[in-house]
Amino acid sequence: MWLGVLLTFLLCSSLEGQENSFTINSIHMEILPSLEVQNGENLTLQCIVDVSTTSQVKPQHWVLFYKDDVLFHNISSRENTESYFIPQARVYDAGTYKCTVILNNKQKTTLEYQVLVKGVPSPRVMLDKKEAIEGGIVTVNCSVPEERPPIHFTIEKHELNTKGVRQKKEKTSQNQNFVTLKFTIEEQDRVISFHCQASIISRTNVETSESSKSELVTVTESFSIPKFHVSPEGRITEGDQLSIRCTIQVRDLDQVLPEIIIQKDKAIVAHSKSSPEAIYSVMAMVEHNGNYTCKVESSQISKVSSIVLNITELFSKPKLESSPSPLDKGASLDLWCSIPGAPLANFTIQKGNKVVSQSQNFTTVASEWDSGTYTCIAGIGKVVKQSKPVRIAVCEMLSKPEIFCDSKSEVIKGQTIEVSCQSRRGTSPISYHLLKASNILKSRNVSSNEPTVFKDNPTKDVEYQCIADNCHSHAEMVSDVLRVKVIAPVEEVKLSVLLSDVVETGKDIVLQCSVNNASGPITYRFYREKESNPVYESVSNDTRAVWHESEASKGQEGQYYCLASNRANLAKNAPQSNAVTVRVFLAPWKKGLIAVTIIGVIIATLILGARCYFLKKAKAKQMPVEMSRPAAPLLNSNNEKMLSDPNTEANRHYGYNDDVGNHAMKPINENKEPLTLDVEYTEVEVTPSEPHQGLGTKGTETVYSEIRKADPENRRLP
Ligand SMILES: *[C@@H]1O[C@H](CO)[C@@H](O)[C@H](O)[C@H]1NC(C)=O
Ligand SMILES: *[C@@H]1O[C@H](CO)[C@@H](O)[C@H](O)[C@H]1NC(C)=O
Ligand SMILES: *[C@@H]1O[C@H](CO)[C@@H](O)[C@H](O)[C@H]1NC(C)=O
Ligand SMILES: *[C@@H]1O[C@H](CO)[C@@H](O)[C@H](O)[C@H]1NC(C)=O
Ligand SMILES: *[C@@H]1O[C@H](CO)[C@@H](O)[C@H](O)[C@H]1NC(C)=O
Ligand SMILES: *[C@@H]1O[C@H](CO)[C@@H](O)[C@H](O)[C@H]1NC(C)=O
Ligand SMILES: *[C@@H]1O[C@H](CO)[C@@H](O)[C@H](O)[C@H]1NC(C)=O
Ligand SMILES: *[C@@H]1O[C@H](CO)[C@@H](O)[C@H](O)[C@H]1NC(C)=O
Ligand SMILES: *[C@@H]1O[C@H](CO)[C@@H](O)[C@H](O)[C@H]1NC(C)=O
Ligand SMILES: *[C@@H]1O[C@H](CO)[C@@H](O)[C@H](O)[C@H]1NC(C)=O
Repeated sequence: MWLGVLLTFLLCSSLEGQENSFTINSIHMEILPSLEVQNGENLTLQCIVDVSTTSQVKPQHWVLFYKDDVLFHNISSRENTESYFIPQARVYDAGTYKCTVILNNKQKTTLEYQVLVKGVPSPRVMLDKKEAIEGGIVTVNCSVPEERPPIHFTIEKHELNTKGVRQKKEKTSQNQNFVTLKFTIEEQDRVISFHCQASIISRTNVETSESSKSELVTVTESFSIPKFHVSPEGRITEGDQLSIRCTIQVRDLDQVLPEIIIQKDKAIVAHSKSSPEAIYSVMAMVEHNGNYTCKVESSQISKVSSIVLNITELFSKPKLESSPSPLDKGASLDLWCSIPGAPLANFTIQKGNKVVSQSQNFTTVASEWDSGTYTCIAGIGKVVKQSKPVRIAVCEMLSKPEIFCDSKSEVIKGQTIEVSCQSRRGTSPISYHLLKASNILKSRNVSSNEPTVFKDNPTKDVEYQCIADNCHSHAEMVSDVLRVKVIAPVEEVKLSVLLSDVVETGKDIVLQCSVNNASGPITYRFYREKESNPVYESVSNDTRAVWHESEASKGQEGQYYCLASNRANLAKNAPQSNAVTVRVFLAPWKKGLIAVTIIGVIIATLILGARCYFLKKAKAKQMPVEMSRPAAPLLNSNNEKMLSDPNTEANRHYGYNDDVGNHAMKPINENKEPLTLDVEYTEVEVTPSEPHQGLGTKGTETVYSEIRKADPENRRLP
């Protein structure tokens, strides 16, 4: 029966549920005590739902808690408020919280709530030891067990009772909430502690802990600071036996001894590896004044102390003086040595390592062997001091310099001449000057007595002289004079016609061969074309030579050229001149004579012919004599010409000459005349030899000659 009642109730309620209506009015969260909590505080998240229903019974619903959009807690409930408790909130609990309520198929979510956790718990610092030796290592473990990594740790080493950080290390631990760091114990460390601080990044904030202190660590020395012991104590004077000792105390004698070094400035003067002391022992001199440092070094630790030594001087350095250097050979060389205050001392004077005097002074007659570096050594008791070195140069006088030249004393213009100067005796360095026509051309310093060579390019005859000088007090030495002759080679040769290039037989042919300003003697050779032997040869110092042929004959007509050379020209290289043409014509009276003779012969022939004819005619018939008439005008015209002004005759020849001149250019073309012709005007320079004008006067006229030129292509295809 009870079971029946229960079933009916359940059925009714389910029927009711199906019919009842629900709605979620609102949902919100409450963060307790607040949105911002201190690290370690209890934190409560509450989700509060307001639901309306027609049912008498509160409906069952789901409440879901999210942190940073990740579900971390759910619960089925009929209550209006559901809580999530976080005991001792940590930095990693900070975040964005929200909650959602689900009722049948309806759900509603709260706003997002930013929860901050301020501060980091103080870290725990633990050390592996409480007592340490200098150079040893202390391991520090710093942890924040409450928090989660990553955590950034800062550990500092502090000396007790002093401010400031002796050493500082930082490390971020990504996977653990602790770090272990090793610290080396340094020489100044006595009683030390380590301070640790932890930082955690929470969103955009960095939360940092308080600084925690470790326990104290007591440091014991492995060896003491080095200590100096100087003997003799008190005032130290030069000559005393000086001893500088540096000692240390080690903690236990079993350990490896550190190295001890005594330094004066940068130089190591003593050192020791196997004993707890180092000793520098020396006879005291002022040079030993200074700052001495003792360094003791083990692999990790270095301890230093220093002292300044002040040694009293017994006497000043000696001073060596000399006669002024350089010194002429043969002069007196004096050296004298002194100590300020003139105390009683033993002196020696040395040249290099050789003692030259056992006394304060040294005097000798200077020879070249006396050149060198001298020092004076002065001693009082055991204390010996050396002067600054004095350089002495002994100068031997130069011999008269010799001057000579590489070749004979002749040079072709444009070539280089080598002039040498040499002073065979005398102390070097020698300063040479080469004089050219009394002016200094070049100077050189030579460090031996070997000759020095100067190069020059003289363009005309020249005189050289050497001047040599050295350290000797004697004035500079001058050499003899070297005379050099400069031969200008023949370079240009020109042949010209004096008088006329058209010469009457029996008159003079005068040709002049002239050269540039070449040096004599010059050999001139006049040649006629194609002949291998010169027609005339002469040697002259003049820059021109004249060939005078006083009885010109027709056979001397032709082209002439000349060669000229001197000894600067190789025989084969004699330059050749231009060619000139000389025409020889018969004298008018000779022509007349020849004409008369020919006419006479013709007349005689005609007369003979006529006589034969008449004789034959007479034998046959009577014939008129007028047949022979045509010969008469010829005779007359010739006679007229002969009797006319000789100038006309000359002009005629002149014209003929011109003709020849033109023909000289034509022969190439003449053969081609019958072919297809091109007409062309060529500018020809003609040298008229006007008999009326003064001899030798020349002028040029421009004549346009008509030259017919064959077109070689047309020639092939007529
Ligand atoms: C925090 O909660 C614990 C129980 O988890 C309780 O013992 C403690 O007293 C609470 N602290 C404070 C300050 O309320
Ligand atoms: C609530 O959590 C349980 C187990 O923790 C899970 O089976 C269930 O599906 C969750 N409910 C919701 C609505 O996520
Ligand atoms: C450092 O200390 C923490 C606890 O404070 C411990 O869990 C960890 O093992 C220690 N680390 C080392 C290397 O000793
Ligand atoms: C001597 O030298 C040391 C090391 O160079 C230096 O520290 C010290 O000041 C010097 N002492 C004197 C008096 O110059
Ligand atoms: C050394 O001692 C002399 C006197 O004995 C003193 O005049 C001098 O100044 C000292 N030099 C140094 C560097 O201390
Ligand atoms: C050495 O020479 C100097 C200068 O010439 C002179 O004053 C001095 O008396 C000489 N001393 C001796 C011991 O000859
Ligand atoms: C000079 O030398 C001699 C012999 O070496 C020595 O007896 C003397 O004491 C020395 N004089 C001085 C002033 O040193
Ligand atoms: C040669 O030496 C002298 C003296 O040392 C110097 O004045 C001169 O300039 C030098 N001449 C040359 C050409 O180096
Ligand atoms: C030709 O040479 C001589 C000597 O070489 C010279 O005196 C003369 O001035 C020169 N004449 C010309 C024109 O160069
Ligand atoms: C050329 O001149 C030299 C001297 O300058 C002379 O000795 C020589 O005889 C002359 N030669 C002729 C051909 O005049």
